[in-house]
Amino acid sequence: MNTAQVQVQGLSKSFGELAVLKHIDLSVNAGEVVVILGPSGSGKTTLLRSLNLLEQPDSGVLQVCGHRVEIAPGRQLDRASRQQVALLRQKTAMVFQAFNLFPHMTALENVIEGLVSVKKVPKAIALEKGRQLLARVGLEEKAGAYPAKLSGGQKQRVAIARGLAMEPEVIFFDEPTSALDPELRDEVLSVMRQLASTGMTMLVVTHELRFAREAADRVVFMEHGVVVKDCPKAEFFGQASGERIQQFLRRY
Ligand SMILES: Nc1ncnc2c1ncn2[C@@H]1O[C@H](COP(=O)(O)OP(=O)(O)OP(=O)(O)O)[C@@H](O)[C@H]1O
Ligand SMILES: [Mg+2]
Repeated sequence: MNTAQVQVQGLSKSFGELAVLKHIDLSVNAGEVVVILGPSGSGKTTLLRSLNLLEQPDSGVLQVCGHRVEIAPGRQLDRASRQQVALLRQKTAMVFQAFNLFPHMTALENVIEGLVSVKKVPKAIALEKGRQLLARVGLEEKAGAYPAKLSGGQKQRVAIARGLAMEPEVIFFDEPTSALDPELRDEVLSVMRQLASTGMTMLVVTHELRFAREAADRVVFMEHGVVVKDCPKAEFFGQASGERIQQFLRRY
């Protein structure tokens, strides 16, 4: 049986007059890799940030890792919902385009920061786990390096290791490779492909069609705040996906 790890119903969000998300429905099953594609400004980042309430939607129902949050128009979240938000944040990780590492901490310290400060894992155990995670992303020899001494691809791999340290059930990626030179993208994409093959549930906003072709189960295409297409990748990349999708794909 498929269990929805992320389920979104009727999610809407406006910035002032601008309706950025218009009644979005989306579901991601446990173990699925879903890639979100779409032109700039279509609402991809806003959608991702809404899923862990980094952005407060105007209305809709979210269910993430078993935690349900209902957002009613014009109303603040009640206490029970805020508690659900805190819990779902502990089960999700977010990897951003801009890495967001602490500059005054080494790679290893960045990786274990959440383990020590949020999960209260004893330092020695956290350090051991942090080293294992850095090895998993191919950076064991950079444990003591500060972010300023790392390449963009290495910084992003540290950011992924930091996310994994919290043992998330779902990882959200927002254009994790778009700040990187082409030759550095592959090292990050290969870590992501490896992660996908372990059965991690992943929702990935990217312009990397190759990643979508290789690692996605499903592709969601957004435009003007609407999900235009949501289908298995074979269908998306096939001839029958429709003129709008073909036109979008031709631009790459
Ligand atoms: N905090 C904000 N305040 C006002 N408008 C915003 C804000 N964040 C996003 N927007 C607007 O919402 C729309 C969708 O933005 P969003 O960042 O979600 O798009 P995107 O699909 O991620 O685009 P890109 O591919 O360029 O990253 C854009 O028109 C953007 O200008
Ligand atoms: Mg974006």
